[in-house]
Amino acid sequence: MAHCALQRLSLLHCPSKPQNQISSFTQPSSPLSHPWIRQRGFPGSIPSGVSLHCSSESRRLGLQAAPIQAQSSLVDIDYTEMGAVEDASSKRYAVVTGSNKGIGLETVRQLALQGVTVVLTARNEKRGLEATSSLHGSGLSNVIFHQLDVLDPNSIESLAEFVLTKFERLDILVNNAGASGVIVDEDALRAMTIDPASWLSGKATNLVQGVIKTTYEKARECVDTNYYGCKRVTEALLPCLLRSPTGAKIVNVSSLRSELRRVPSEEKRSILADIDTLTEDKLDNLLQSFLNDLKDDALEANGWCIMLPAYSISKVTLNAYTRLLAKKYPSMYVNCVHPGFVDTDINWHTGTMTLEEGARGSVMLSLLPEGGPSGCYFDQTTVAEF
Ligand SMILES: NC(=O)c1ccc[n+]([C@@H]2O[C@H](COP(=O)([O-])OP(=O)(O)OC[C@H]3O[C@@H](n4cnc5c(N)ncnc54)[C@H](OP(=O)(O)O)[C@@H]3O)[C@@H](O)[C@H]2O)c1
Repeated sequence: MAHCALQRLSLLHCPSKPQNQISSFTQPSSPLSHPWIRQRGFPGSIPSGVSLHCSSESRRLGLQAAPIQAQSSLVDIDYTEMGAVEDASSKRYAVVTGSNKGIGLETVRQLALQGVTVVLTARNEKRGLEATSSLHGSGLSNVIFHQLDVLDPNSIESLAEFVLTKFERLDILVNNAGASGVIVDEDALRAMTIDPASWLSGKATNLVQGVIKTTYEKARECVDTNYYGCKRVTEALLPCLLRSPTGAKIVNVSSLRSELRRVPSEEKRSILADIDTLTEDKLDNLLQSFLNDLKDDALEANGWCIMLPAYSISKVTLNAYTRLLAKKYPSMYVNCVHPGFVDTDINWHTGTMTLEEGARGSVMLSLLPEGGPSGCYFDQTTVAEF
């Protein structure tokens, strides 16, 4: 019963399963009443708008398209009960990238508390070993360190070899490592005391232009870390992920900046939104034209986001890659998540949420049960529109 409800939810939002498994699929207005699913603002029925991010798939299934809905009309999934659905005695192995600090470290901690054997990775060996020791000190002996720089193909290969030799498979991959793509005058930024609402709404964009600078080198590094780094690590670990008996979970840690409505150019938005015609080559071309426009000082003129431009496009393309991957590998659960506005180094501690809160989305998606969603974007623990 429980599985059924979530399966129907997942199929509505992001159906990646073969059509013969979804012949009993109900129309978007069917009621969902399972306790895993908490509904906001629409008691008793599935919100039709939440299927929009996979509308092409919905069309294939003969479902009606629905109008864009506000962020508040979303389905919330209680993941605390989900872990219990999986066989508690079965071992699970996870890798979390960029996990020597911040949300990554907290994700490792929460997964380890759930009994998962977790590989904590860091580009800097000393920082990684210190973080691992701190978790061992709190009794989590099921955390293992391995070096990983997502920019270095040799380092990625070494991790993949380690996982294959040690575990022979991988059940969970959290692509968490991230870079901001900017140089910041932190003292000047702090002195501006910008309120969180202005950050989140984009109102701070003009205010911060003097203290947050995007250089070409920083932008390249950001795209290379957040998009290509995730892609390289995922591809290297795919042989291990495909061996997971319960269907591997891949979680790509994204951002609010990834949302398509924030991309000013309608042309770019439509390329990115059309999952039926989107390809990795198109994403490569888009990223290359972004870097060219940055070099030519033509970002605004060509419809790129000007608030954290490299970071934004790296996460927009990360979400698109998530959808492509979910389509290509229907046996896996591939999702992306905005962790919330969390107090960490990457946002110079302007975030308001705790690490515990920030890791919830990644952990929930790492522990999805059979029949869970794939190819979706989550705002923390809530399904949202791409
Ligand atoms: N905090 C927020 O409000 C927020 C909001 C939206 C999205 N996010 C996303 O959440 C994720 C985690 O960020 P955070 O907030 O926890 O920031 P953080 O504390 O700065 O952590 C970033 C992590 O990524 C690692 N990293 C950077 N480049 C790397 C590379 N080339 N190879 C391997 N690891 C690398 C960092 O390692 P070093 O210590 O060596 O630098 C660090 O461990 C990121 O993807 C970020 O974009 C955060």
